[in-house]
Amino acid sequence: MKSSFKLLILISVFFFTLTAKAKSDGFDEPYRPQFHFTPAENWMNDPNGLIYFEGEYHLFYQHNPNGKEWGFMHWGHAVSPDLVHWEHLPLAIYPDNESTDKEFATAFSGSAIVDRNNLLGKQQGELPTLLAFYTSKDNGQRIAYSTDKGRSWEKYEGNPVIAFDEEDDARDPKVFWHEDSQRYVMVLWRMPEGQKSNQGISIYSSENLTDWTHESHLAGFYECPDLVELPVNRRADDTRWVIFDGDGSYLIGDFDGKRFKPETPKMQGDFGKNFYATQTFNNLPDEQNRTIQLAWMRGGEYPDMAFNGQMTFPTELALKKYLEGIRLVRTPVKEIELLHEKGHSWENENLIPGLNKNLTRKIKGDCLHIKGTFDLKTVNSFGFVVRNSRKETGVEIRYDATKQVLSCMGQGVLLSPEDNKIQLEILIDRTSIELFGNDGKAVLSSCYTADPEAQQLILYNTGGELLVEQLEIYPLKSMYELD
Ligand code: FRU
Repeated sequence: MKSSFKLLILISVFFFTLTAKAKSDGFDEPYRPQFHFTPAENWMNDPNGLIYFEGEYHLFYQHNPNGKEWGFMHWGHAVSPDLVHWEHLPLAIYPDNESTDKEFATAFSGSAIVDRNNLLGKQQGELPTLLAFYTSKDNGQRIAYSTDKGRSWEKYEGNPVIAFDEEDDARDPKVFWHEDSQRYVMVLWRMPEGQKSNQGISIYSSENLTDWTHESHLAGFYECPDLVELPVNRRADDTRWVIFDGDGSYLIGDFDGKRFKPETPKMQGDFGKNFYATQTFNNLPDEQNRTIQLAWMRGGEYPDMAFNGQMTFPTELALKKYLEGIRLVRTPVKEIELLHEKGHSWENENLIPGLNKNLTRKIKGDCLHIKGTFDLKTVNSFGFVVRNSRKETGVEIRYDATKQVLSCMGQGVLLSPEDNKIQLEILIDRTSIELFGNDGKAVLSSCYTADPEAQQLILYNTGGELLVEQLEIYPLKSMYELD
């Protein structure tokens, strides 16, 4: 082979390796989460239209394409093969009002379903139509449809399917198929006759997706309702329905297709600073046998970034029986492991305070997945300090064993040890920390900003001995890393 040709090959291999390791353009800013979904630029709030269809997870979201503040809502759109790597697609749903400076008829939150039986009559060929139910601001509940796997959207000519009534504010339709009653169900936030005290979730049913019958109303909720059936202790023959409020709080009960009968009071779903507008995915394949929820991390800050907003990492929902009753538990989807770099693990390490045996001194990073089981022995408190450096104290994650409180960033939740042990799973990204205690019984989702250089992780205990029964820590790759 001629040496100049060899050189050319060598140079191309070198550049190929270089680009393959590189991150795609512009997604590596200091406050850009690396495994939480963010819009490429501008404002984002609620997740909308979450659905799995033809091998893709669709994530639509409330989006202002014109600025970093809320306003002029559209549905942004992204797809993923695995809930971890997201590809941005063009805007999906535009306001029903063509003018660019009016809030009237902008595209507010909603949900998506697959029109399996072609009830809207829009199907072309074999591929079923996707329908998005959205609120057109002050303009009723409406449908947009897509016959090409969500790549382009048309507005249904029979809109609105539920008319606007100015005495009766309503928004955020979540639609799903209810097997037992063989009907579609819509849960919709409403303030009937403008009475604040009566604002809550209205339940509608439909056989054809366009005529909706009002069935019942449950007061005491605000925005973004959701309603799902979940097995208790993983037993398919023992299920309950869970109704969600916009802030992720929930009630457990029974649902007959028309009416939700609560069996519990309202309970808080997340104890962190930044968790709002939850929604579960529709149409997950039966074999996945799981329910996945996403929320907007409302109130996060991203100084000098081109974007404003991030979603939580997707979590799996389940119900579990405890002495005090049935509770919702929430854990990150297992697909997080797709981003694992080579991990570190420890077993049966007895930590004596003062001896400063910071087990994790070798761990550095701003994207980490931590999983551990800690025997409380004689400890007063233990925890992690995240994003620490010589200059910065960092963010503290703490379990106070005397008060039985798990806390992070000034927010706390009571969590009793099980068998004198506390289990923690923690997702750390550049601007968010999600903390799951005792297999998702207590969850705190919060945003933070830290000095980009502060990357040290400290494990500490005070007052007595702590047995680290098991600890695994994985640095996480960026979803933007091409490999
Ligand atoms: C919740 C919410 C929804 C509404 C949307 C508008 O954050 O207020 O009720 O549809 O945001 O962006």
